[in-house]
Amino acid sequence: MLQALTLEDLTSFCIRRGFFFPSGRIYGGLRGFFDYGPLGAELRREILDDWWYYFVRRREDVVGIHGCIITHPRTWEASGHLESFFDYLVTCSRCGRDFRADHLLEDAGVKVVELTAEEISRLIREKGVRCPECGGELSEPVPFNLMFTTYVGPKRTRASEAYLRPETAQLIFLNFKDVYYASRLKLPFGIAQVGKVFRNEISPRNFLFRLREFEQMEIEYFVNPRKMDDCPLFKDVADMEVQLLTAERQEKGLEEPLRITLEEAWEEGLISCKWHAYWIGESLRWLERIGISLERIRVREHVKTELAHYAIQTFDIEYNFPFMGWKEIEGVSNRGDYDLRRHQQYSGKDLAVEDDGEKVLPHVIEPSFGLERIILAALADAYTLIKGRPVLSLHPRIAPVKVAVFPIVNKPDFTRKAREVYHMVKEHYTAIYDEKGTIGKRYFKADEIGVPLAITIDGKTLEDDTVTVRFRDTREQIRVHTSQLIQKIREILENWHHHTTRKT
Ligand code: GAP
Repeated sequence: MLQALTLEDLTSFCIRRGFFFPSGRIYGGLRGFFDYGPLGAELRREILDDWWYYFVRRREDVVGIHGCIITHPRTWEASGHLESFFDYLVTCSRCGRDFRADHLLEDAGVKVVELTAEEISRLIREKGVRCPECGGELSEPVPFNLMFTTYVGPKRTRASEAYLRPETAQLIFLNFKDVYYASRLKLPFGIAQVGKVFRNEISPRNFLFRLREFEQMEIEYFVNPRKMDDCPLFKDVADMEVQLLTAERQEKGLEEPLRITLEEAWEEGLISCKWHAYWIGESLRWLERIGISLERIRVREHVKTELAHYAIQTFDIEYNFPFMGWKEIEGVSNRGDYDLRRHQQYSGKDLAVEDDGEKVLPHVIEPSFGLERIILAALADAYTLIKGRPVLSLHPRIAPVKVAVFPIVNKPDFTRKAREVYHMVKEHYTAIYDEKGTIGKRYFKADEIGVPLAITIDGKTLEDDTVTVRFRDTREQIRVHTSQLIQKIREILENWHHHTTRKT
């Protein structure tokens, strides 16, 4: 069924059902910007809340912060973003349109991983790549910095320039020492943050995949550099089997990943350290927890030329999208002490902390999730046709609406009782009420937006106060007394076996 799903299908489904709308649509839209509609807003909240619960609240070694979007300009000098955070741009000499050079090469079938300007220029000429809009000749590639600039205060001068953050991570580094003291933390520990980031992408595309405004969910996990392999939590993930595509295999032209446990991968020196392997495992556990199938996930190491300026080793967690193949939804990097060292150097402040009676500048492992890409993967993963009809088999943990309530017929005795049940359920769970159309159509509409449970008030309800509870994925129904209903819903949702109950 997944093969049938195109990006166009998913995009129009999401707009039609109120998950997302192109921002400023009545004025023709603004490329790279999407607003969340009512269902999208609920879905977003569920994912953010579960991420925060799983990675922050549940743990004793991670605390959260919430930093500013407009950031001190020195931040980005120190982080290296002003110097290194760019893509190559080419402009059509005939129609004047701008394009991201590597995307044009990719579209021309060239496998591109971080090329130099000279290499791009050569390949464009060799492959005869021209403007995809008008066939015009393309300019030489020029670096284009992706940071959005703004002005702080009334004067628009060079001195009042500031930047909208392109990653949340830097706010964590800036606040590192204050958080360390305020929270009385000891190494190893993590600081987490979720929030908006902005990148002036040259060519935003693929719906939610490449946006100019999006949200990140990031953790910077600080470890004594001498203890990178001293990870007491590693046992939680050691046996997990992952599909690992190493840089070495890619350099040999091999596409097939290794199927290997994280322990084996670490033992064979394929992952920089135990803490790095641990955070890969924890990331995968969370993705599975929100219903994303790990069979469609692989862990791909960045090849040398692809590594960000700050990274010692990076793995992309990639999802196999039915409409665009393997694409990054999360990165897990070993950033070493690059960021703290640079901020220390640029600010003149000592950012070292105590561990075992000595002062150390910690090294950092960073799991960095893009919220919209997680949403795209969750939607693609959940979109199924059951008996020819679309069903969004989202895990109840993230489903935007948990319960639908229907009177079997649109008559006063039934609607009165159904609204009473609806209000009772709504006190506890996001719920919708619908009395229009046949009951079959209402079930289908609820299935299509991923509502796990539908409750129907029928003739028997009026006699004995029981209702039917219908399961989205199996269409099975059970009868429950209204006095037990909330408890039963809780029981079902908390014990949901998403992939085992799904009948396709
Ligand atoms: N702090 C590290 C960092 O920002 P990144 O790989 O540039 O690393 C992390 O971004 C995640 O943010 C990616 O894995 C992806 O999910 C998301 N992301 C990056 N650029 C994006 C874009 N233009 N639109 C939507 N999501 C994006």
